[in-house]
Amino acid sequence: MNVLIPFYSMYGHIYRMAEAVAEGVREVSGAEALLRRVPETLPTEVLEKMGAVEPQKAFAHIPVCTVDELPAADAIIFGTPTRFGNMCGQMRQFLDATGGLWVKGSLVGKAGGVFTSSATQHGGQESTILTFHTFLLHQGMVVVGLPYAFAGQMRIDEITGGSPYGASTIAGGQGERLPSENELAGARYQGKYVAEIAAKLKG
Ligand SMILES: Cc1cc2nc3c(=O)[nH]c(=O)nc-3n(C[C@H](O)[C@H](O)[C@H](O)COP(=O)(O)O)c2cc1C
Repeated sequence: MNVLIPFYSMYGHIYRMAEAVAEGVREVSGAEALLRRVPETLPTEVLEKMGAVEPQKAFAHIPVCTVDELPAADAIIFGTPTRFGNMCGQMRQFLDATGGLWVKGSLVGKAGGVFTSSATQHGGQESTILTFHTFLLHQGMVVVGLPYAFAGQMRIDEITGGSPYGASTIAGGQGERLPSENELAGARYQGKYVAEIAAKLKG
């Protein structure tokens, strides 16, 4: 059983979360996690101005995803940073290339989930994940979130990401904050949970 994890990351926060999601997937016996970057759409000079060129080198070794890889996956967990409370344009462009899969119903019945990152605590994590879920539903996928069984999302002793909709991290206004242990635990939980449900769906 294989779980595809297509993500976009500009400064590395979503990449770190994607690695934790993959760790969770691998906790399920027989489950393989495949990390993939969705294609970049910004020119290098723009990425340079945004300070993204250096951080992106840390995950340049991850293969770039093509939409043709999606049908072979038993489950798909998407990772995107928040852009104005929504998914990033790179991810949207990738999803908009899946019309051919929709025509064939190639993703129907697959488990799917979403994790995210935002600069601020209330900067749109939940809206990003919830608006992403419409894509999963249009494709006929089975939407999987982050259940309250992951109790870390209820912590109030520290600022933390994580909601019933999916794992998340708070990056800070300058991207200075790395995913916390609690947020990484949420990402691992979601990865494992999606893989377990995919195994059940597969029978
Ligand atoms: C164009 C743009 C729009 C953004 N919009 C938001 C936003 O609405 N709310 C927020 O908290 N952060 C916002 N951010 C910050 C990003 O979400 C943050 O840089 C990202 O989560 C870091 O993850 P990454 O290192 O994986 O790219 C925005 C960043 C950019 C470049």
